[in-house]
Amino acid sequence: MTVMNGHDRVRAVQWQGDHLRLLDQRLLPQHEAWIECRTAREVAGAIRDLAVRGAPAIGLAAAWGAVLAARSGMAGFGTELAMLRRARPTAVNLMWALDRMAAAAHAGRDLAVEAQTIQDEDLAANRHMGDLGAALLEPGVGVLTHCNTGSLATAGFGTALGVIRAGVAGGRIAKVYAGETRPWLQGARLTMWELMRDGIDATLIADSAAAHLMRSGAVQWVIVGADRIAANGDTANKIGTYALAIAARHHGVRFMVVAPAATVDMATATGAAIAIELRDGDELLTWAGQRHVVAGAHALNPVFDVTPAALIDAIVTERGVIASPDAQRMRSLFGDRDA
Ligand code: MRU
Repeated sequence: MTVMNGHDRVRAVQWQGDHLRLLDQRLLPQHEAWIECRTAREVAGAIRDLAVRGAPAIGLAAAWGAVLAARSGMAGFGTELAMLRRARPTAVNLMWALDRMAAAAHAGRDLAVEAQTIQDEDLAANRHMGDLGAALLEPGVGVLTHCNTGSLATAGFGTALGVIRAGVAGGRIAKVYAGETRPWLQGARLTMWELMRDGIDATLIADSAAAHLMRSGAVQWVIVGADRIAANGDTANKIGTYALAIAARHHGVRFMVVAPAATVDMATATGAAIAIELRDGDELLTWAGQRHVVAGAHALNPVFDVTPAALIDAIVTERGVIASPDAQRMRSLFGDRDA
């Protein structure tokens, strides 16, 4: 085990026996407040409004939402699952978790046990990916990450941030940079909070400073998570990831995607078929609740983009590492359709 508990203390999705407790990520880092969800509808709202976010955490919350749906009666179970499924479009972990819960219900299995198993498997996958990803790093590297892929976004430890945790603990990473991740500031608000809290030194940069940093030689690896990986390795992740991959290739910086098998969607052939969530332009037009852009101006707010597989040096999953991913290498690890 590479990592001490001191480097992994946050648990943002907590089942309480009869309700789901979520660390409200809209309020971090100013307030550490928790919300309680007692119905599937409340869970769907928490996912849609980003109280809980990050692909694996969305899947976990939805799994617990399915438990709440079942407890309110199996007559409406299918409708409630459909409502949860519509909460956000891009992260396939949501659909994956709901399909798994539906199959468990169909087989007559205990749904709370199934949801807890999904949660436990996610944490174990993250720890394993941490070791696999950190092993790719030459000692002394500088790394840049984007968005938040840590304990807040998963069952714990994180995907890309798990590799960073393992790399720091193993002495391979000399310097961690985090992009602020406009417009919702997952990097500035969440990743920096999580890393500081766990005693990992990190330096925040504006998203637009990334290419400059790469040119200066400060960064050898960009390490990011994923919301959906298509069958050819094309990867949807937080808006700005694609620009980082282009800049990385130009500067000879390597690019690593870290995600569990639950994020792999072998039924989607290429990134072109991945639905990209468009969120409210107000996320761009307002700042801390105040409008800061001239009245009458419009904003376009796609919150994910697709990085072509050709720009990715390694996809790290708990099943193993795929170097220079393509359709054939993806198939060899994930089979023809279902991950
Ligand atoms: O809109 P968000 O905050 O849910 O987007 C999160 C990301 O894009 C993450 O990089 C991704 O979900 C991986 S989290 C382990």
